[in-house]
Amino acid sequence: MTRILCLAIAAGILLSPMAGHAREPGDPQKGRVLAERTCMSCHAIGRQQLRSPNPDAPAFRQLARTPGMTATALRAGLQTSHRNMPNLVLHEQDREDIIAYILKFNGFPAGKAEMPADPSLLTDTLFESVKPKK
Ligand code: HEC
Repeated sequence: MTRILCLAIAAGILLSPMAGHAREPGDPQKGRVLAERTCMSCHAIGRQQLRSPNPDAPAFRQLARTPGMTATALRAGLQTSHRNMPNLVLHEQDREDIIAYILKFNGFPAGKAEMPADPSLLTDTLFESVKPKK
């Protein structure tokens, strides 16, 4: 029974169009709706929720707070196979939206670009210690 349900979910995701549009910064609001539809059966997706329906699936809040977590890491995580998670084929923009939603838990909105890894490029970057109001 659960298996049929999972297949139905996977089929639904596969049917969404996969055209390669230019990547827009993710929209966390849309990401939340998508997460409710496609991830919530296994993952805890709420801000206060720490226990996932599927105990093996990390809560989104926990993912966001993993030290070193970045949009790139989530992107990679969502594009590789996992032992216990079905392979979800997400429309690129849907994936960006969900990533923006997950990362919003650490208080920072998704930006247009990843921070450069080269520290010499960071010398001109102004870091503010105040998190934006939600
Ligand atoms: C059928 C259950 C199920 C569904 C649906 C599901 N997940 Fe998962 N997910 C898991 C499990 C179980 C794990 C942890 C074990 C693993 O990595 O195989 C996991 C792990 C993850 C991870 C961590 C991956 C890593 O590299 O460590 C991310 C990110 C994630 N899920 C995101 C999502 C998103 C986003 C959705 C919805 C689009 C989703 N999952 C839908 C079960 C699910």
